Amino acid sequence: AKDPVRVLVTGAAGQIGYALVPMIARGVMLGPDQPVILHMLDIPPAAEALDGVKMELVDAAFPLLKGVVATTDVAEACKGVNVAVMVGGFPRKEGMERKDVMTKNVSIYKSQASALEQHAAPNCKVLVVANPANTNALILKEFAPSIPAKNITCLTRLDHNRALGQISERLSIQVSDVKNVIIWGNHSSTQYPDVNHASVKTPGGEKPVRELVSDDAWLNGEFITTVQQRGAAIIKARKLSSALSAASAACDHIRDWVLGTPEGTWVSMGVYSDASYNVPAGLIYSFPVTCKNGEWSIVQGLPIDEFSRKKMDATAVELSEEKDLAYSCLS
Ligand code: NAI
Repeated sequence: AKDPVRVLVTGAAGQIGYALVPMIARGVMLGPDQPVILHMLDIPPAAEALDGVKMELVDAAFPLLKGVVATTDVAEACKGVNVAVMVGGFPRKEGMERKDVMTKNVSIYKSQASALEQHAAPNCKVLVVANPANTNALILKEFAPSIPAKNITCLTRLDHNRALGQISERLSIQVSDVKNVIIWGNHSSTQYPDVNHASVKTPGGEKPVRELVSDDAWLNGEFITTVQQRGAAIIKARKLSSALSAASAACDHIRDWVLGTPEGTWVSMGVYSDASYNVPAGLIYSFPVTCKNGEWSIVQGLPIDEFSRKKMDATAVELSEEKDLAYSCLS
């Protein structure tokens, strides 16, 4: 039998945590034959709720779940973890300035970076979910210099999956028949959902989405804004932010990273930019990636038209501004 993999979930007493930990314990993230030990971290005000989640994990009697650590101690939470899913953070509350929220998150991600660096297993893979996800991941990277930059990523898979969902709804086809959309840039409303390279499996072979959806005005307009604004639409409808879809996307992200993407398919991940596609180096930016042997690589050589270029640049500008704001919060 395989040795268990230790998976850390921070903010585990929150909404996403509640949807995510059972998925991990059922093998959705790492596969149906991979035992796991869950490490759950939250802050003292949520300690009792966290214990409740632990009780439910025991009650669910998951065969793959070989242990549960539930703690408010960051060092204990990070001890020996192979995968870290960072969902905990400080949410923006009404009337709060962007800078105040950033200051809180910068200080959280700075200290959790050090804890991961000191206590996590070598080669630990990190996924930041908490917003501002790209910039939190960048801070984590900066303050965990011994963790390779390629091991630190942020979640844009939810946006990617939302884009697949919109295309499948529009064409009344199975979502599993759509592939290779791209989310470029920031996990924010400036993200650029790009369908120029996306395709659909049809009885007559693979066809470009651009050919099947002939309505360019929809593809260049409403499709993009629907994906960009989907998070807000969920909040309006549910009075709570997306949780089950975020948890599912986090599982997809880690699963594909660890187990590989299917041949001919790419996914979107927020990764440390190496200046591919002239995106400024040193930002955590969402790119199309393929994964193999536990490593991602950015899909190279896709032609970028002028419309796309502008949108890719605009989201990069926003990320550079966030980076500057984050640095100004450090001093
Ligand atoms: P939530 O408020 O229900 O849960 C957050 C949890 O984090 C709470 O239990 C809180 O006590 C905990 N927490 C706060 N500070 C912490 C710290 N320093 N260490 C450990 N835990 C801490 O929020 P929800 O709905 O679960 O969302 C979590 C985050 O995910 C938010 O930042 C949200 O904006 C973000 N998000 C990101 C998405 C993405 O696609 N990247 C999609 C949806 C949400």
